[in-house]
Amino acid sequence: MHFFVTGHTGFKGAWLVLLLRHRGHTVSGLALDPLPDALFERAAVAGELANDFRTDVRDSAAVKSAIAESSPDVVIHMAAQPLVRESLREPRLTVETNLLGTLSVLEAVTATPSVRAHVVVTTDKVYRDVGQANGYPEDAPLGGNDPYSASKAMVELLTHAWVDSFSPCPTATARAGNVIGGGDISRDRLLPDLLAGLSAGRTPLIRYPDAIRPWQHVLDAVSGYVLLAEALLDGSHAGGAWNFGPDPHGFATVRAVADEVVSLWGGGASWRTDTESHPRESHVLTLDAGKAREQLGWAPRLDLLTAIGWTVEWQRRCTVEPSAGVTREQVARFDA
Ligand SMILES: NC(=O)c1ccc[n+]([C@@H]2O[C@H](COP(=O)([O-])OP(=O)(O)OC[C@H]3O[C@@H](n4cnc5c(N)ncnc54)[C@H](O)[C@@H]3O)[C@@H](O)[C@H]2O)c1
Repeated sequence: MHFFVTGHTGFKGAWLVLLLRHRGHTVSGLALDPLPDALFERAAVAGELANDFRTDVRDSAAVKSAIAESSPDVVIHMAAQPLVRESLREPRLTVETNLLGTLSVLEAVTATPSVRAHVVVTTDKVYRDVGQANGYPEDAPLGGNDPYSASKAMVELLTHAWVDSFSPCPTATARAGNVIGGGDISRDRLLPDLLAGLSAGRTPLIRYPDAIRPWQHVLDAVSGYVLLAEALLDGSHAGGAWNFGPDPHGFATVRAVADEVVSLWGGGASWRTDTESHPRESHVLTLDAGKAREQLGWAPRLDLLTAIGWTVEWQRRCTVEPSAGVTREQVARFDA
C-alpha cells in the first residue's frame, strides 16, 4: 500500500513513516524542511521515502502535482502549525497553514483517482472548552479559544463540508491527545521542555502544573490514524470524526507527568513551577476514545507510565547510541 503523508518531517510524521515502513508500506511525504536536530534527520527517515516533497502545503498547485505524481492509495494529512503559543504570535500563518493547507490537500485528493482513503489530523483542542473531565466524545460542540484550536475546528468543518459537497474518496478526521515520545523538539511542549532542561543539567520550568491532559505515546496516536485509513479503505467505515485518546488513567496532571520524568531521570533531578504570567490554557482537556475502541478495535498499547518510560529511555539511549537504531527498535517493539 502506498501512503502519502503530509508533515512527514515533523515529530509525528517521522514516527508514522517509520511505523508504515516497518509494516512494509511504501511512503511518500510532503512538508517543509525539518528543523535543525529534528527526529527526521536523527532517525534517517529520508532514506525510507519513495518521494520526499519539500513543498508549502498552502501552494495548492504544487500539492496537487505532488499527490498526482505519487499516485498513492491513502493520504494522511498532518502538516500544520501545531502550537498554541506560536498561534498567538503568528495567527495568520497558523490559520493559513492549517485551513488553507487542508483545502489544498482536499482539492488534490479529490483530483487524484488513485486515492481511496483520506485521514485529516486535527487535535483534542477542537472541542469547546467546558472543562469536561470525563472526555469529549466526537459529537461534542466544536470551539477553540486560541487561533490554533480555532483553526483546527475550522479544519473539521471544512473537511466534513467538503465530503458533503463533493463526495470525494472516504475521508475522516482524527483527533488525538497530547502526544509524547522520543525526538520531539517543539517549543512549549512539556516533555521536550523537561528533557532539554534535564539533558543540559538545568532545572526545567513548568507552566500550569495542575492542568489535566490526555497523554499518550506517539505510536499509539499514529497507529490509530493507520487503522482508521484501513477501515476507510476496506469500506467498513465511511468517515466522520474519530478520537484517538488514552484510557482515562492517561488523563493526568502536568505535575504527575513531570514528577515521573524527573524520577526516571534520577540523580536528584527536579522541576520548578514557572511563575511568570502566560496566556490562558484550558485547565481540563480529555478525550473519549470509545468510538474508535468499539468500532475499530483500536486501543492504546502503552499506558501512561510506559509511554513516559519509552520517552525518557529514547532520550537517554540516544546520547550513546545512534537515534536511527533506537527509534526503529521502539517501532519494532511497539508492533511485536
Ligand atoms: N504533538 C501533539 O501533541 C499533537 C496533538 C494533537 C494534534 N497534533 C497534530 O498532529 C500533526 C503533527 O504534529 P507534530 O507534533 O508532528 O508537529 P511538528 O511541528 O513536529 O510537525 C509539523 C509538520 O508540518 C509541516 N509544516 C508546517 N508548516 C507547513 C507548511 N506551510 N507547508 C508544508 N508543511 C508544513 C512541518 O514541516 C512538519 O513536517 C499536526 O497536524 C498537529 O496539529 C499534534
